[in-house]
Amino acid sequence: MRTIVAGNWKMNTDASSATALVDALVGKMGGQPGNVEVVIAPPFPFITQAVERAKGSGIIVAAQDCHQAEKGAFTGEVSATMLKSLGVGACIVGHSERRQYFGESDALIGEKVAALLAADIIPIFCCGERKEERESGRHFDVVTEQLKGALGKFTNAQLERIVIAYEPVWAIGTGLTASAQQAQDMHAHIRSLLHTHGASVAGAVPILYGGSCNPSNAEELFSQPDVNGGLIGGASLVAEQFMDLLRIAGKVKH
Ligand code: PGA
Repeated sequence: MRTIVAGNWKMNTDASSATALVDALVGKMGGQPGNVEVVIAPPFPFITQAVERAKGSGIIVAAQDCHQAEKGAFTGEVSATMLKSLGVGACIVGHSERRQYFGESDALIGEKVAALLAADIIPIFCCGERKEERESGRHFDVVTEQLKGALGKFTNAQLERIVIAYEPVWAIGTGLTASAQQAQDMHAHIRSLLHTHGASVAGAVPILYGGSCNPSNAEELFSQPDVNGGLIGGASLVAEQFMDLLRIAGKVKH
């Protein structure tokens, strides 16, 4: 199973600090564990320079979202084919901030996944329950609905090209993390849903944990058998912390 550590920069950095962060990461990539795929998702305006500066380093540059259509009259939007033409290799979709602030539904997110697959970009599909959903014991059902609603129509060959990130909404940017057991339980649940499509799907799709993951809690989280790496927000903005996360993932997933 692949191990992936992905940094979601969200709406942070500017032209010069984004460049500086990419350069710092590229400079530290030598000697990193070769068994971990490294992904960074800068804001749209800084993607071109990130792709150029990361060339040859092994870092995959991702986007944080895309539009579901290939082109057309959608002012302000960015298509998967545009991203492909820049050399973007992956794209986050369905992040809880997109669901919450931009009203994205599972059906819409499924269309975005389809557009990314058609453009040959790896979709990093986010799912996860809100605080009240966990407190009422509905968290497994919520994640099941998100996966079925967005990914239910894909073929096995398509599903095998997707990456899933489990991000409990109550843990994102809050300093709270799921316990290693809570993460493992949900990842095992997601894995069992993938298994209903066959062992090859369950064996091919990495499931990343996200939500206040940092160098002090990553070892325990990444050690769980169904946790295949992390989707990192805040800690991905500090080069040293992000590199520490790569080292930890490389160590526990050798
Ligand atoms: P966080 O964000 O690490 O800052 O909690 C994770 C994410 O939203 O991807």
